[in-house]
Amino acid sequence: MAKDTLTITDNRTGKQYELPITDDTIKAIDLRQIKVKDDDFGMMTYDPAFMNTASTRSKITFIDGEKGILQYRGYPIEQLAEKSNFLETAYLLIYGELPKKKQYEEWVHNITYHTLIHENIKKLMDGFHHDAHPMGMLVSIVGALSTFYVDAKNIDDPESRKKQTFRLISKMPTLAAFAYRHSVGRPYVYPDNDLSYCANFMSMLWKMTEVQYQANPTLVKALDVLFILHADHEQNCSTSTMRGIGSSRVDPYSAIAGAAAALYGPLHGGANEAVLRMLDEIGSKNNIPSFIKDVKEGKGRLMGFGHRVYKNYDPRASVIKALADEVFEVTGRNPKLDIALELERIALEDEYFVKRKLYPNVDFYSGLIYQAMGFPVDMFPVLFSIPRTVGWIAQWEEMLKDPEQKIARPRQIYDGSGVRDFVVMSKRG
Ligand code: ACO
Repeated sequence: MAKDTLTITDNRTGKQYELPITDDTIKAIDLRQIKVKDDDFGMMTYDPAFMNTASTRSKITFIDGEKGILQYRGYPIEQLAEKSNFLETAYLLIYGELPKKKQYEEWVHNITYHTLIHENIKKLMDGFHHDAHPMGMLVSIVGALSTFYVDAKNIDDPESRKKQTFRLISKMPTLAAFAYRHSVGRPYVYPDNDLSYCANFMSMLWKMTEVQYQANPTLVKALDVLFILHADHEQNCSTSTMRGIGSSRVDPYSAIAGAAAALYGPLHGGANEAVLRMLDEIGSKNNIPSFIKDVKEGKGRLMGFGHRVYKNYDPRASVIKALADEVFEVTGRNPKLDIALELERIALEDEYFVKRKLYPNVDFYSGLIYQAMGFPVDMFPVLFSIPRTVGWIAQWEEMLKDPEQKIARPRQIYDGSGVRDFVVMSKRG
């Protein structure tokens, strides 16, 4: 009769072991009993880059990479993008259910009324060089918030966690906008509580001398949808960083500084910045074949293509591609779009990309929209960090409440030299 177990024969000893299987998974720690000698450490798994290791159980985000499915708490991303808004989706991700009317109103109120930052943070911001990358500023300043909110270290207190959640989700746009204003040498614009989350962010970015900034509603909606699409993506590099740092039980500001730093890299949240630089480099449709040839010869990557989990079209990329038309109606067409569309067409027919199941990911088109909306390229990873803060918090909460989690501490296979005696400098030749 079929059994939910895995039988392993160790051919070094002839011994057999029967390990339980749950959810198509065995526990790595169950392998530790496999030894040749009693005083051996026991067998481990070797999994650089966590290609096949589940580090947690999670109820937040479901991805089926083969089928191109993404769901938050069971709701398909396409439905959320069409019918929800960013703050409602944020509530869903963090609390597990869509809010009822009263819960939603309280939630929006709490986020809206925590947007101001301490005046000293402006001084910190002023200390950065005029051409400092806004993401570098954001990473530093979100970490510095832990020195302003010392109650944040009470991570076992649900009330404290709730307060930091409001503060983080509400202040990230303020920090992001202030970093931008600093980089262009404009005075900081304070939050406007009469505006929605995204309209307020746009006001803090672009308001000049008018009494109230009037953002274009189509662009506000587009930004809101982009924020929904970027809010969580299960155990990606920055989220694993958030959980890893958080597992040391540090405050959430310090953990988010680490998560945001992970997001900054060109293989993760920096990819849409890299896509635009790549499109600039290609310059015109005529140069695409030689660019593709170079990629296939290993002289660089087609940025915005490929994903560790998706081996199909990234569902977020499909929503963004449709959104692009609405945005370009307002802003005018981004001339790089034609190069991107042609690149996609060629790559999706090319044996190299087909064989490796490389499809456009979320970053392939998002940069084009952000640029058309007026965001400088340096702001792209910052724009990613704002909504992803929600996912980081949801995953951090889940990690803290999970009795199976402990401080994250992988093992290694030591490959270095055996023990040797110290040699004084004069005798080192
Ligand atoms: N262009 C060209 N070749 C690629 C690309 C690409 N974008 N991505 C993967 N490949 C090739 C690799 O060279 C490798 O080929 P090989 O088997 O002949 O050696 C094969 O496809 C598998 O690639 P890996 O690097 O092993 O895949 P991995 O899962 O480690 O990488 C990653 C995923 C980092 C996203 C990769 O596809 C990549 O670098 N893409 C470009 C950067 C990018 O768009 N990142 C954004 C990801 S989405 C996000 O973070 C929000």
